[in-house]
Amino acid sequence: VLHGCGTRIVRVECVSEPDLYTTAGKIADLRARYQEAVVDAEATAQTKQHAKGKLTARERIDMLVDTGSFTEIDEYVRHRTTAFGMDRSRPYGDSVATGVGTIHGRTVAVYAQDFSTFGGSLGEVAGDKIIKVMELALRSGMPIVGILDSGGARIQEGVVALGKYGEIFRLNTAASGVIPQISIIMGPAAGGAVYSPALTDLVVMVDKTSQMFVTGPDVIKTVTGEDVGMEELGGAYTHNTRSGVAHYLADDEEDAIDYVRTVLSFLPDNNMAELPVYESDFEWETTDADRVLNTIIPDSPNQPYDIHVVIEHIVDSAEFIEVQPLFAPNIVVGFGRVEGRTVGIIANQPNAMAGTLNIDAGEKASRFVRFCDAFSVPIVTLVDVPGYLPGTDQEWTGVIRRGAKLLYAYAEATVPLVTVILRKAYGGAYIVMGSKQLGADVNVAWPTAEIAVMGGQGAVNILYRGELKRAAEAGEDVAAVRTRLANEYTYNVASPFLAAERGELDSIIEPAQTRVFIAKSLRALRGKRATLPPKKHGNIPL
Ligand code: HXC
Repeated sequence: VLHGCGTRIVRVECVSEPDLYTTAGKIADLRARYQEAVVDAEATAQTKQHAKGKLTARERIDMLVDTGSFTEIDEYVRHRTTAFGMDRSRPYGDSVATGVGTIHGRTVAVYAQDFSTFGGSLGEVAGDKIIKVMELALRSGMPIVGILDSGGARIQEGVVALGKYGEIFRLNTAASGVIPQISIIMGPAAGGAVYSPALTDLVVMVDKTSQMFVTGPDVIKTVTGEDVGMEELGGAYTHNTRSGVAHYLADDEEDAIDYVRTVLSFLPDNNMAELPVYESDFEWETTDADRVLNTIIPDSPNQPYDIHVVIEHIVDSAEFIEVQPLFAPNIVVGFGRVEGRTVGIIANQPNAMAGTLNIDAGEKASRFVRFCDAFSVPIVTLVDVPGYLPGTDQEWTGVIRRGAKLLYAYAEATVPLVTVILRKAYGGAYIVMGSKQLGADVNVAWPTAEIAVMGGQGAVNILYRGELKRAAEAGEDVAAVRTRLANEYTYNVASPFLAAERGELDSIIEPAQTRVFIAKSLRALRGKRATLPPKKHGNIPL
């Protein structure tokens, strides 16, 4: 049979033609078309992608969703562009696969760009496919996962392609805080195309095979003269450690998908849905593992420790899924479960920069607070913070404006907030880290807590300047005098019992009691109802 296109023969087949006037013939025709649109196209895609050590769009989706659960839609869509001879190649499905599947039995919408077709570029119909599946997810209240691998706006389609990005950004924004949106970058994401993932809740990048940049190395070289390679400019490591654009650095595609499946197990389907609850054999008595926390705080206030140990002693089965672990490591954020129910943990990390707050830590934590609050995830805050990081760099890059985000995020949050002060809680950092005054529901401290305007050494330098001077003049050991005065100050002024006496702390607990105390507090807060004054939206400092 010769299928002609004008005078040009585009395909030659030696098959018996189905009788399209019969039902059997129509079904046979459908099967033949499916064979071409999906099966044959997939084989071609595999050849191209596997040669680059990458999976195809459909293989990635199959790995993401529960086995056999994917239902593809729009696999017969074809572009209508005629410019640049595009009408000579109109592959079914265009450059993206879309549909619905399940993850741990819960329905999710998915799209995966297909780099083997027009470089995964986004033209009118690829854009429409993504928009359709996003609208479906938003309408039905299910999470959406986008797998990006694309050369960006389809150059041949010009403004039409750009317009589709605009529609996608608008939908990303409408869906923000309504359904969880996750982006996995498995190839290039170039130009304005990076802004769709940037608008989603989480960005996962695969090491060495994914890149995100607004302007590429060549343009940068031309405009600024800087020489920078693709990987250094916008690779997964850069965006996980330097820019904070990405939230997880995956070793490979499988690792990326594992992470996303796990994160979704902590999240509800949408902002109106209940959080998933898992079976738990929660131990209500203090255990030997709990008692480890009684020895975690070093006697010396300057000695660090790893906050992960504390977190792992609080969450069920020590299972903690960290978000942005490589960016601003001085604050640790992530999901765990208490009594089988999701909690968001925000904790200062004394092991990194002594746990000080800086711009990056503030922005990382504030975004996580808002992520939790949007999806009804209670927040447990663990405080050990000596204060804000001093320096002109911080002041001049806007620690006031950008640091205010964390105050705003906590103050605006209406989910249950439980705060435990482990050790230092000084100055503005005490207030910002989930203090009662910002709206936390339950605030307690360990007996090792120090709560004051500033640390003992700093306070002594100001309060006892004269005494230190006299000690120096009298030839006394000034360092010893300073340490004695600082210890007295810490004991008398920074003692958590002063805060407990005033009711600013609800109690002082033994570290070993923390896990059970948090569980009881979260139980008590399960019915929490809190509202904010009616408004169009706030004006968070950006
Ligand atoms: C149409 C594209 C394309 C695009 C790639 N292809 N990008 N086709 N529009 N944007 C095609 C190529 O022509 C090629 O087709 C195939 O995809 C594979 O591309 P290669 O270049 O061979 O692959 P590779 O060497 O791996 O390089 C990948 C790449 C490069 C780095 C992504 O293709 C590239 O720089 N593309 C252009 C990136 C870009 O500037 N996009 C516009 C960004 S602006 P054949 O037929 O040869 O296989 C943008 C605006 C969004 O996106 C606006 C939002 C507001």
